[in-house]
Amino acid sequence: MSKGSNAGKMCVLVTGGSGLVGRAIEHVVQEEGGKLEGEEWIFLSSKDADLVDVGQTRALFEKYRPTHVIHLAAKVGGLYLHMKSNLHFLILQTISTLSFNIFCLVCPAASKTTYPIDETMIHNGPPHDSNFGYSHAKRMIDVQNRAYFKQYGRRYTAVIPTNVFGPYDNFNIENGHVLSALINKTYTAKKDGTALNVSGSGTPRRQFIYSLDLGRLIVWVLREYDEIDPIILSVAEEDEVSIKDAVEIIAQSMDFKGKILFDTTKSDGQMKKTASNAKLRRYLPNFTFTPLKEAIQMTCSWFVANYATARK
Ligand SMILES: NC(=O)c1ccc[n+]([C@@H]2O[C@H](COP(=O)([O-])OP(=O)(O)OC[C@H]3O[C@@H](n4cnc5c(N)ncnc54)[C@H](OP(=O)(O)O)[C@@H]3O)[C@@H](O)[C@H]2O)c1
Repeated sequence: MSKGSNAGKMCVLVTGGSGLVGRAIEHVVQEEGGKLEGEEWIFLSSKDADLVDVGQTRALFEKYRPTHVIHLAAKVGGLYLHMKSNLHFLILQTISTLSFNIFCLVCPAASKTTYPIDETMIHNGPPHDSNFGYSHAKRMIDVQNRAYFKQYGRRYTAVIPTNVFGPYDNFNIENGHVLSALINKTYTAKKDGTALNVSGSGTPRRQFIYSLDLGRLIVWVLREYDEIDPIILSVAEEDEVSIKDAVEIIAQSMDFKGKILFDTTKSDGQMKKTASNAKLRRYLPNFTFTPLKEAIQMTCSWFVANYATARK
């Protein structure tokens, strides 16, 4: 982690501060005592600067002169958006990831790998065809971090979260991440009195991390984690669940009593991406993750309460 060049006050710039992960970090910092005395935290959205534009990016850094940067801004979306926009994902991740401190990587999507995947395996094999643009771009972040360290001694690192969900996610049914899209689908099916149509067979398995847990872990990384090598931030392997399991929890949380149908003509994406959180556990053996059921319930309640303004 770079300690920055300003020896005095710590100033943390969070790009993508209006997104799912950025809002969670903001909550941890502002509401849970994550911010220490004398620190300044600045949360940015694309309205503050288009980080694809070099001039705007430079102006932003000159304005705030941060000592630390948590770089979250990126083009983000679910499987179906990835499948139709690999080029955009490749270009937008690559351009927007130059010269920052903490990066979020995608979990390696190697099509032929052994499980669980750990931090030493993220460059193994080609990524899954569904999201090769995003995956290659994210892998380059680790290459960039190592090169900056070797050539300039700069200490940048990357975190690798598994599937994130929580308040402020994009709940769009077509383009959102699987859990949030399903929450919106369930809400709509209940409102319209129709069946809940789930895309795919429901058999793929995923490790889901609640955004607030991720926010707490990222603040820990910023303060305590000194390696250049990335770290996977995830629940344990045994906490991996099938999409069908997740759908059942959502239906229960939203009191949906209708039929649940699985459309097997739609793609399933990668059947699993099981990641190891052994490295995280070596550092933080006692960190408690919010139980999935509880986290999904809180996310459903947030979505219902904020339906008018939620991204969807
Ligand atoms: N969500 C997941 O499951 C997951 C899993 C692994 C890794 N990640 C990574 O975690 C990071 C954050 O993801 P997220 O889920 O929080 O994303 P998100 O909710 O979609 O938020 C994206 C953020 O990026 C900003 N942004 C997008 N394009 C920008 C641009 N050209 N210039 C400046 N800001 C821009 C957005 O600003 P506006 O609000 O103004 O549009 C928003 O604040 C990303 O790097 C993502 O790849 C996410």
